Amino acid sequence: TNNETYRVLVSDPMSNEGLQPLLNEENVDCVQKNVNEVDDLDSYDALLVRSGTTVTADIMDKMNNLKIIARAGVGVDNIDIDAATERGIVVVNAPDGNTISTAEHTFAMIMALVRKIPQANASIKSGEWNRKAFQGTELRGKTLGIIGFGRIGSELSKRARGFEMSIIVYDPFLTKERAEKLGVKTSDLDEVLQTSDIITVHTPLTKDTKGMLGMENIKKTKKGVFLINCARGGIIDEAALKHYLETGHVAGAALDVYEEEPAVDNELLSFDQVVSTPHIAASTKEAQLNVASQVSEEVLQFLNGSPALNS
Ligand code: MLT
Repeated sequence: TNNETYRVLVSDPMSNEGLQPLLNEENVDCVQKNVNEVDDLDSYDALLVRSGTTVTADIMDKMNNLKIIARAGVGVDNIDIDAATERGIVVVNAPDGNTISTAEHTFAMIMALVRKIPQANASIKSGEWNRKAFQGTELRGKTLGIIGFGRIGSELSKRARGFEMSIIVYDPFLTKERAEKLGVKTSDLDEVLQTSDIITVHTPLTKDTKGMLGMENIKKTKKGVFLINCARGGIIDEAALKHYLETGHVAGAALDVYEEEPAVDNELLSFDQVVSTPHIAASTKEAQLNVASQVSEEVLQFLNGSPALNS
């Protein structure tokens, strides 16, 4: 410990309970305010964000005292990592705090999609009693293709196994040993595309995964496939998805994330066979408490001189 006072800016809404370690620390002045509404940006040592704040090189230049950026969540695609590296700013995340919530939301989206629950709910509430329109599909015996088998993908597979689905996985970073330990079969991408009834993506958004499910790859899927994206907008190319929904090749899609957020004018929202939520997979009490406390501890340790965790 030393006697220096550190200033921490929390730019997106975060669990107050999770922020307690920072709020209670004597030598930390923690301010909860959007980065665009703060004048004395150069006085802050640390910046905490979720996905709502885009941390550009320009912001970093205005925060010339900044030492650490912490993402209360997993994806750091809203932070210009190269710009941070150039400026010697450490970037950390909360890699596992929202795993379960995201896996559960993905499963809820799969169920909602194949049983048309949102559409049936809207219909009955509008005064209809239409049992014919909402015939669904059973999950038992169907093949779930999981692209990206990290924390979320593997938690999802456990839940799918409970529903007696067969699981097929594509993840170029997954070793044979770990796959065996987790009891899944790994395949190449083409096999996942060709054999799955439902395909869900759980990768970060990188130059390799952007548009991974695009015109060419969606074409390789079974006619009537269901596609799920609760990871990052753009992994499934939206124009390609729109095309294959129109041709009927893709039977339906469930989306929590979009190429552009907030997704208010997104044309995919007008498809009846698309089930949508506004990027809420990690929005549970539990996950938000987890990620906020995880990054609070990380920032505190770092400011007090320990090496950064999860950087
Ligand atoms: C994440 O990357 O952790 C999620 O997108 C959740 C969030 O934006 O908070």
